Amino acid sequence: MLIIKCLLQMLVLVVILLPNIFLTSHFHAFTGSAQRELSRNGVTCISDTESNICITSDTVRLTTGKSPTVLYLTGDQQLSQQNQNTLLQVRPYARKTDTFAMARTSPVTIISNAQHPPPCDINHSVPAVIFSNGGFAGNFFHDVNDVIIPLFLTSSHLRSRVQFVITDYEQYWVNKYRKILTHLSSFDIIVASSSSSTADKRVHCFPAAVVGLKYHGNFLCNSTSEPGGVSTADFRHFLHTAFSLRKGPMGPTNSPTMVLLSRRKSRKILNEENVAELAREVGFRVIVATQEVVKNLQNFTELVNGCNILMGVHGAGLTNLMFLRQQAVVLQVVPWGLDWASMAYYARPAKRLGLQYIEYLIEVEESSLYNEYPKDHPVLTDPWGINLKGYNVSKPVYTDGQNVKINLARFKDTLLKARELVRNSSKVSVE
Ligand SMILES: *[C@@H]1O[C@H](CO)[C@@H](O)[C@H](O)[C@H]1NC(C)=O
Ligand SMILES: *[C@@H]1O[C@H](CO)[C@@H](O)[C@H](O)[C@H]1NC(C)=O
Ligand SMILES: *[C@@H]1O[C@H](CO)[C@@H](O)[C@H](O)[C@H]1NC(C)=O
Ligand SMILES: *[C@@H]1O[C@H](CO)[C@@H](O)[C@H](O)[C@H]1NC(C)=O
Ligand SMILES: *[C@@H]1O[C@H](CO)[C@@H](O)[C@H](O)[C@H]1NC(C)=O
Repeated sequence: MLIIKCLLQMLVLVVILLPNIFLTSHFHAFTGSAQRELSRNGVTCISDTESNICITSDTVRLTTGKSPTVLYLTGDQQLSQQNQNTLLQVRPYARKTDTFAMARTSPVTIISNAQHPPPCDINHSVPAVIFSNGGFAGNFFHDVNDVIIPLFLTSSHLRSRVQFVITDYEQYWVNKYRKILTHLSSFDIIVASSSSSTADKRVHCFPAAVVGLKYHGNFLCNSTSEPGGVSTADFRHFLHTAFSLRKGPMGPTNSPTMVLLSRRKSRKILNEENVAELAREVGFRVIVATQEVVKNLQNFTELVNGCNILMGVHGAGLTNLMFLRQQAVVLQVVPWGLDWASMAYYARPAKRLGLQYIEYLIEVEESSLYNEYPKDHPVLTDPWGINLKGYNVSKPVYTDGQNVKINLARFKDTLLKARELVRNSSKVSVE
């Protein structure tokens, strides 16, 4: 009895003390071996499949405005065995396996035990999160998937008490995502390096810092992975808040609205007007989202948020599914040879977000490739084999080299099914 009582008291003590231990670090969201290393050494570096990230819970100095950007660890942090070479380089963009993206991402050098780190020009009271606008900046899918979501994962638990520092800074990028950035940080961004804007040239001192961003997967916030606690649904909720999007049920499903994403360069719908006309016949109010319509992100997110169905050929525009309401429908047109990418990038995330998903698989005769290759060519007969040869082989063919002409008779069945899904969505309770 006494032993049990004693154990219980200890347990209570542990429970009371534990949060305090974790709160001593700015990055209490990290657990397990990373957290142990952080408490012991004041710094930990995590190498994931797509990102490298270094976290320090002690003081740093950051020199900006000249290449490379250097982070001096000034709190006697000890980099562990793997990183013992006291000089470490991190390219802070979550696509480390992609050589093209990495070539466009400047490295940040981390130096520990420096004898004479430069004196502070400015002292900050909150930690820094350092990331890059390099990589695939400008592509909507990659902006959201490789930067915005990882930024949310890495910094949302800091509750805006965080200073963003951007390398390879692009003004247009920051303008486009300003609503998101200002919802994650209360401070003006520091430009560490840029080929198009003026970089800051001061030495910035911080109580703690993170170099690089956490990445969990395509449009994924895994609440059981570190830093933990946030789900994809939380991210979606955050986005909707940042853009002040309406909550509650969608518009009436008796005259449902379809946003039809119009592509200009590759994977164009050659008979787009006929497709839009057919969708109208089936009962949709169709809005063709041309570049002009998409241009203003706030306006377009509101448009998407109000629609019942978002339709598009596989491509970055489908990233807008993030702005749909729950139970809305995503209709993806899957070009020849792009089944896998369509599944991984949009089908799976759509379902994970609680959206209804339907796809139209292009048959080989509907692809413009059909008229460009002999009928027995592997591009037409064996797309999987071509894909296995690598992205540098498949990209110019399937991703950049084809348009589609949709078979209207066959597509009508898909539209009718989509119409039924929309009708059914009114029966399901919404968020
Ligand atoms: C920054 O903080 C350090 C340590 O507290 C202090 O010595 C230094 O004068 C401060 N620098 C500025 C520019 O405020
Ligand atoms: C989330 O993370 C856990 C633990 O790391 C893992 O087992 C699980 O498969 C992940 N979920 C997804 C959807 O990747
Ligand atoms: C955004 O929408 C509003 C209201 O519909 C319109 O007045 C405005 O011109 C649009 N802005 C842009 C940049 O398209
Ligand atoms: C594609 O990349 C692989 C290895 O990354 C290389 O061996 C091959 O030559 C490249 N092919 C083309 C067509 O560039
Ligand atoms: C719509 O709901 C009905 C019954 O509620 C069901 O039988 C039908 O399969 C659903 N339609 C689709 C396309 O899921």
